[in-house]
Amino acid sequence: MSTFPVYRPRRLRANENLRRLIRETTLSVNDLIYPMFVVHGHNTATEISAMPGCYQYSVDTLVLAAKELAALGIPGTILFGIPEAKDPVGSEAYADDGIIQQAVRAIKDAVPDLLVMTDVCLCEYTDHGHCGVIEAGEVRNDPTLELLVKESLSHARAGADVIAPSDMMDGRVGVIREALDENGYENIPIMAYSAKYASAFYGPFREAAESTPQFGDRRSYQMDPANAEEALREVALDIQEGADVLMVKPALSYLDVIHRVKTEFQVPVAAYNVSGEYAMVKAAAQNGWIDEERVALEVLNSIKRAGADIILTYFAKSVVEWLQD
Ligand code: PBG
Repeated sequence: MSTFPVYRPRRLRANENLRRLIRETTLSVNDLIYPMFVVHGHNTATEISAMPGCYQYSVDTLVLAAKELAALGIPGTILFGIPEAKDPVGSEAYADDGIIQQAVRAIKDAVPDLLVMTDVCLCEYTDHGHCGVIEAGEVRNDPTLELLVKESLSHARAGADVIAPSDMMDGRVGVIREALDENGYENIPIMAYSAKYASAFYGPFREAAESTPQFGDRRSYQMDPANAEEALREVALDIQEGADVLMVKPALSYLDVIHRVKTEFQVPVAAYNVSGEYAMVKAAAQNGWIDEERVALEVLNSIKRAGADIILTYFAKSVVEWLQD
């Protein structure tokens, strides 16, 4: 390549039309999934204090929110449920009349084309707040798998379009895939939270989903934020076990991981722009310290540039409005 003064990179930055022509990354509504929280009750939408603009919906108001997503052209939502009662084995997670199962049926009835993804995990449903079964003070892997299978099947029966296990138990993608196939759900994709880190960025979500662990932390099952090679091993395992979409979570502090997963495996990659990432932008913007729209779009563009095909983000609705302007 020629060098200065023959080559002047600024030439192609001179005006917006030139910049549009050479732009390498374009964020689109097609990339977005909007996460929503659902609670028991009627006609309620309670704003989550650390996530301004996000709500815990009852099933009826959730359906209205789902219609809004479809009207904006957003391809889908991922749902998180808050049960009526919690117990040691998270029974409501796999009850056919559980909150998620009701929510999925209601959305699929009212807005059949909107993709409904369901987060498969026990932490919102267990009284101890961990993502697995506890025995002798430890989160036990293999006994948890059975419950995750039951949960996945009940979501599929309710009409879920995509199953998204987020528990980080070893081997869960394989057993869920097998169970889905055996029960006639061979066409339901699995979006695996493959590289899910033990992150402090989930703070606001735990308020939203009422899922804070009552003792200890999640470091015996979620990944150490210091590790990237381990993420590639997790992804390789999940591909072997039958995952269709591989997720990295959180997104912003793990752009290197997103990039390595995309370049090493050439698979559909999802990235979760998590609650803490959203809350930071919202809080600083509310203080007048940053421009919310510009910062959010810059963040989401960086996630796409790193290699994500799908971005799960609480900014999804705002993004569509910003992109339309
Ligand atoms: C459930 C789950 C969590 C998130 C998604 N699924 C919380 C956790 O693992 O503690 C976090 C999402 C967010 O912070 O936006 N295990």
